[in-house]
Amino acid sequence: MGDVKRVLLIVSGGIAAYKCLELIRLLRGREISVRCVLTEGGAQFVTPLSLAALSGDKVYQDLFSLTDENEMGHIELSRDADLLLVAPATANLLAKMRAGLADDLASTALLATDKPVLAAPAMNVRMWEHPATRENIRDLKSRGIGFIGPVEGEMACGEFGLGRMAEPEAIAQAVAKTLESAGAPGGRLAGKRAVVTSGPTHEAIDPVRYLANHSSGRQGHAIARALAAEGADTVLISGPTQLPDPAGVLVRHVASALQMLEACEAELPADIVVCAAAVADWRVQDQPRQKLKKNGKAAVIQLIENPDILATLSKPSTSRPRLVVGFAAETQNIIDHAIGKRDAKGCDWIIANDVSPESGTFGGDTNTVHLIDEAGVEDWPTLTKDEVGRRLAERIALHLGGQGR
Ligand code: C5P
Repeated sequence: MGDVKRVLLIVSGGIAAYKCLELIRLLRGREISVRCVLTEGGAQFVTPLSLAALSGDKVYQDLFSLTDENEMGHIELSRDADLLLVAPATANLLAKMRAGLADDLASTALLATDKPVLAAPAMNVRMWEHPATRENIRDLKSRGIGFIGPVEGEMACGEFGLGRMAEPEAIAQAVAKTLESAGAPGGRLAGKRAVVTSGPTHEAIDPVRYLANHSSGRQGHAIARALAAEGADTVLISGPTQLPDPAGVLVRHVASALQMLEACEAELPADIVVCAAAVADWRVQDQPRQKLKKNGKAAVIQLIENPDILATLSKPSTSRPRLVVGFAAETQNIIDHAIGKRDAKGCDWIIANDVSPESGTFGGDTNTVHLIDEAGVEDWPTLTKDEVGRRLAERIALHLGGQGR
């Protein structure tokens, strides 16, 4: 039973705590073992006895309890788990996580861990929307904490809005998916560092307007997830998208091409770079500091070229990543254009794809791509974007000499 995955479930004090009883059942149904830490607040809503009965394990509550520390200290508690799950995650516990406070067993275990952490927030809509919570969430996300929900709905307090804890099935699914990636320390890209760009860029026209494109970021995000699942230490540099941050990946959010380039360079050295972002080719030359006003005449906006991130990172240098992969989104003569692009940019591989409106690639679920390397062209069948990500991560692992699991 060596590969049974272990989750440390931290139950903090919200009415949604009752849902974690069902959650434990669902996790165990997926052959994931669950050990619980119950905060003082959590114990107002569920009893240690219910958690113990469902998890089949002792429930840990007290940082200073001699018995608990003798049997299992807080360091061992988090070290022993493959993943820490906070459900429900209250506004208070999230604030403590961000600040690095460790004044009870739950916050101490969270501070002491180097394992993936997922949180399923649950709180009143006003608390969720409060700038303090927004900042806490943004910061925790940028540190790689994964969030599931909250979702919209009727709350125990009688209000309606965003703040309800995600359903146990959605949480169990996210846990299973993250554990798949977290199993990756033995993956073929373990010890390798990957930087992936994804999404569109936004180029400001004035303080309220911007130029953008239709990229959804789904392909780039899927690649980052797949590289992490193969064990790579993965940083995703994402332009503005509607997508949740993939768990287990460090996400740096940027808006413009210049910010994306700066963020990429700050993450070097890396072994692998995949430029999947649809970077704007131009930006507005002299951005007015104030909103442009209509004056009955045509507006003239002068555009200047953005730096090419892929070409910049592909330049020969002692710190050049071993493998630089670019994308060529084309609407005609796909292969010829992509081969030309590989030479022009100096990258190692190009993934060519058809983004003509009839292909449904932009924003869609599937992608039909061709991998172009020095040996020639490989045609891949139509695959989901997740499958393209997995297949690419696999090819990268083989190329860099991964030994397989
Ligand atoms: O020249 P084109 O935009 O078609 O090239 C596409 C490839 O170049 C993609 O991999 C894209 O991420 C990358 N690119 C870039 N920086 C730019 C323009 C494109 O990294 N300014």
